[in-house]
Amino acid sequence: MKTLNIGLVGYGFMGRTHSNAFLQAPRYFQLPYKPVLKALCARNADRAKAFADNWGYESIETDWRKLVERKDIDLIDIASTNDTHHDIAIAAAKAGKMVMCEKPLGRNAEEAKAMVAAVEAAKVPNSVWYNYRRVPAVVLLKHLLDEGKFGRIFHYRAKFLQDWTISADLPQGGEGLWRLDVKVAGSGVTGDLLAHCIDTALWLNGSISEVTAMTETFIKERKHNLTGKVEPVGIDDASAFLCRFKNGTLATFESTRYARGHKALYTLEINGEHASAAWDLHDLHRIQYFDHKDEGRVRGWRSVHITDSDHPYMKHWWVPGLQIGYEHTFIHQFADFVQAAAEGESIGPTFRDGLATDYVTDAVLKSAGTKKWETVPAA
Ligand SMILES: NC(=O)c1ccc[n+]([C@@H]2O[C@H](COP(=O)([O-])OP(=O)(O)OC[C@H]3O[C@@H](n4cnc5c(N)ncnc54)[C@H](O)[C@@H]3O)[C@@H](O)[C@H]2O)c1
Repeated sequence: MKTLNIGLVGYGFMGRTHSNAFLQAPRYFQLPYKPVLKALCARNADRAKAFADNWGYESIETDWRKLVERKDIDLIDIASTNDTHHDIAIAAAKAGKMVMCEKPLGRNAEEAKAMVAAVEAAKVPNSVWYNYRRVPAVVLLKHLLDEGKFGRIFHYRAKFLQDWTISADLPQGGEGLWRLDVKVAGSGVTGDLLAHCIDTALWLNGSISEVTAMTETFIKERKHNLTGKVEPVGIDDASAFLCRFKNGTLATFESTRYARGHKALYTLEINGEHASAAWDLHDLHRIQYFDHKDEGRVRGWRSVHITDSDHPYMKHWWVPGLQIGYEHTFIHQFADFVQAAAEGESIGPTFRDGLATDYVTDAVLKSAGTKKWETVPAA
């Protein structure tokens, strides 16, 4: 079997989920290539070495440019901070590597557009790690929607709530806190959390044509960890928007890091002519489903446990009734990516899909400034 030599950039939270996916995918899925953890790249050599030893990477690099130049790497996987995605992805595509990149694709649509141009010009398989597309329950929703079970979709509602930045003493910038530094992150919850909700929504319900939004930065200044000075906060702490989908659906999206008690509550609900469904990340293996075509006497909301072997991805895992979790979404995405890459194809979300989400997040941030409805360009 041919090998697929992987060079990973970044050893943080996502570096771990991706490394786990590279190791687990060939054990549960039939892959056309054998993934090889060839090199790990991070700036601190000692920590890179410790991570490489723990996960079984054969070598380390401390400069991503060296990693991209290496002839023995087939796939560059970008799991580093948002400010690095653009340069690494473009260099990797120019070097003819396959590219997987964490979300958001760019800090803004302009960056993402250049990244799309690079992978499409190089014709290399590419994908963005919007992993919620590979929760079995969310995939089932997609199948039900595509089969027309919901009929016309009137409403789409999504939220992503957290509470970890409420303290005014929390600094911004540097390790662990780069999400509060607008230069590194690009935006706050809009690009970080709402981007996930938007990607799922575009996949399930088609494109968004216009948005009107409001954002807020509750804590206006924070000490910057890298400069030691108190500096203005440039990110949005909370973001909410109304939008219209091209198919006529009305929708609301909300995200914040100030919802006390909520750690990572991603919820979505769809209301159609014949059916409704709701899903949330805390109960990720279930959908709540209402079908108006059920016999009236027993009609009601049902809670479907997505663990049977005829549910998406589940035949690869345990016996019916036993569930899987968050880390499996990355395993599914990597397995799908490798299977398509063997045919020279890309799986969604592609870089172009990532650009579509960046167009929406850009329009949301623009609308929050102009206080007007903003049109979303087609990707
Ligand atoms: N798909 C998801 O659900 C999900 C979840 C969390 C984060 N993310 C995304 O993944 C990316 C990483 O986030 P994280 O939570 O793992 O962050 P993290 O802070 O845990 O890790 C970031 C990593 O980037 C590395 N890095 C930064 N600059 C670098 C450079 N120039 N060269 C090499 N390495 C560099 C850091 O050393 C660190 O290892 C971000 O783009 C984030 O938006 C996605």
